[in-house]
Amino acid sequence: MCGIVGAVAQRNIVPVLIEGLRRLEYRGYDSCGVAIVTAAGPQRMRSVARVAELEDQVREARFEGVTGIAHTRWATHGAPTVNNAHPIFSRDALAIVHNGIIENYESLRETLRGKGYEFVSQTDTEVIAHLIHSLYQGDLFAAVREAVQQLAGAYAIGVVHKDQPHTVVGARAGSPLVVGHGEGGNFIASDALAIAGSAKSISYLEEGDVCEVTLEGVRIVDRAGNPAERVARDVQAYSGAVELGPYRHYMQKEIFEQPRAISDTIPADAAFDPVQFGDTAAEVFRGIDSILILACGTSYYAGLTAKYWLESVAKIRTEVEIASEYRYRESVPNPRALVVTISQSGETADTLAALKHAQSLGMEQTLAVCNVATSAMVRLTSLRFLTHAGREIGVASTKAFTTQLVGLFILAVTLGKLRGHVSAQQEDAYLKALRHLPAALNGVLALEPQIIAWSQEFARKENALFLGRGLHYPIALEGALKLKEISYIHAEAYPAGELKHGPLALVTEAMPVVTVAPNDALLEKLKSNMQEVRARGGELYVFADADTHIASEEGIHVIRMPEHYGLLSPILHVVPLQLLAYHTACTRGTDVDKPRNLAKSVTVE
Ligand code: F6R
Repeated sequence: MCGIVGAVAQRNIVPVLIEGLRRLEYRGYDSCGVAIVTAAGPQRMRSVARVAELEDQVREARFEGVTGIAHTRWATHGAPTVNNAHPIFSRDALAIVHNGIIENYESLRETLRGKGYEFVSQTDTEVIAHLIHSLYQGDLFAAVREAVQQLAGAYAIGVVHKDQPHTVVGARAGSPLVVGHGEGGNFIASDALAIAGSAKSISYLEEGDVCEVTLEGVRIVDRAGNPAERVARDVQAYSGAVELGPYRHYMQKEIFEQPRAISDTIPADAAFDPVQFGDTAAEVFRGIDSILILACGTSYYAGLTAKYWLESVAKIRTEVEIASEYRYRESVPNPRALVVTISQSGETADTLAALKHAQSLGMEQTLAVCNVATSAMVRLTSLRFLTHAGREIGVASTKAFTTQLVGLFILAVTLGKLRGHVSAQQEDAYLKALRHLPAALNGVLALEPQIIAWSQEFARKENALFLGRGLHYPIALEGALKLKEISYIHAEAYPAGELKHGPLALVTEAMPVVTVAPNDALLEKLKSNMQEVRARGGELYVFADADTHIASEEGIHVIRMPEHYGLLSPILHVVPLQLLAYHTACTRGTDVDKPRNLAKSVTVE
């Protein structure tokens, strides 16, 4: 998704802006650009290649300035061309970078055309540029404040004007923006990471805030125009680019980091104590009668898995909803429900909006399961469980998913204990199983050579079906999502019992059918579903447990997981599916860490 960096300093800030863009690259983008302020007007350089290419352009042109803004763009309105890349200008006087989507841009564009403004890009951003320009009367801060009141939708912006050569104005609503306080310079950015090191401390802007960043300091007002104090927090120095080590891609590295990530996520002691979720958690947990989980994509599948645990271990009614659907649906709010949001980034626009929607409906008990302690989501909820996956760079989520599952399992057992459904003996067994997970995962990762052999077959296919039952149906969904997003093979997942209600029509010799087949209560049913596939000539690729009696034969390929893992089995069974997608994508030669059209942090609707 788009990333913003802006700076005012006493020195040339272009290297700081470019470095900021480089650190935002992981979010995904398709063009980038940088502008500096000069007395003659803003000057810019833009590229539809990588930030490294923009850096070469800047170096060759000796492009330098003390005030500037920069951007990585993930196209929403208008193709990823140089002309649509930010910074966007208005009449060579003002430059703007923007993250988000302006919903009323068409009506604003018509009004501005009426005032003589010409539009040269296809972006919604250009209306903001011209709108601010049309309102400018010598005070950029005032013009931005007036302009944002007319915007509908989501935005974080950074703006500069030729007549105020030492000022950057920022504003946010719906998209994140931080201000950074440094020595000899002040900053704005969509992510603290972008300016860590240059800024010694950062403040998170709140919804509707507008800020003015100058050499002297930072001024912030809230939506109503009142001066606002936003806590300044120390920002840790940037720890450098994450090294790839012996791996080909970040995704592969992150798959192999899962034993470490899971071990870091399991609390060192009192794992099932409500205090893991916050000081008031015990009281909140006692007062709730159900759970509503809100999330998107892979995090949503973590929620679907958690539903099985919460209902079977804690005996608490659980609903799971796709955040982008929930936020616009008329639902029946339950003030006694605990709203659980799940997110790697904690900045996903749809999940944040769904959370705020639930809160606006009177659901006040909220808990985030999240990988970023400083994210908007963690700041918005009263309770939280932080996963310790570490930075996830690959766009396709892997270690964030398995650590979310760990957090959600801990939540289920904690609630189960509190509600009298988990005996001391069971608690002990759950804890032992959790603590043994990293070792069990190492055993699964050792299956990689066998999975590479399968991936050679998959790389030649254009479609695949994934089947699972019960707890492992969400894992089949996740396996299909991983395969489609990085290898571009069309993949669908079904609960195996649904096969004969439609998808069986797709099964031919050309259709590989991946089956997640742990040795659980549904195994015999699953075996019947597999026969249905074989009878139609479908080729089965089965991930079975060590003690599952399914043998390889013509049309049935079996990989055995090293051990059967009971309730926690989804955390193991997803790993070979991650590896299958990864190696299939490598064989097809796709850009594994940055799959086409996708972004790491989806900060627009
Ligand atoms: C898929 C993937 C996405 C994210 C989704 C939510 O591999 O990574 O589906 O899971 O965009 O993102 P977060 O978890 O950051 O809210």
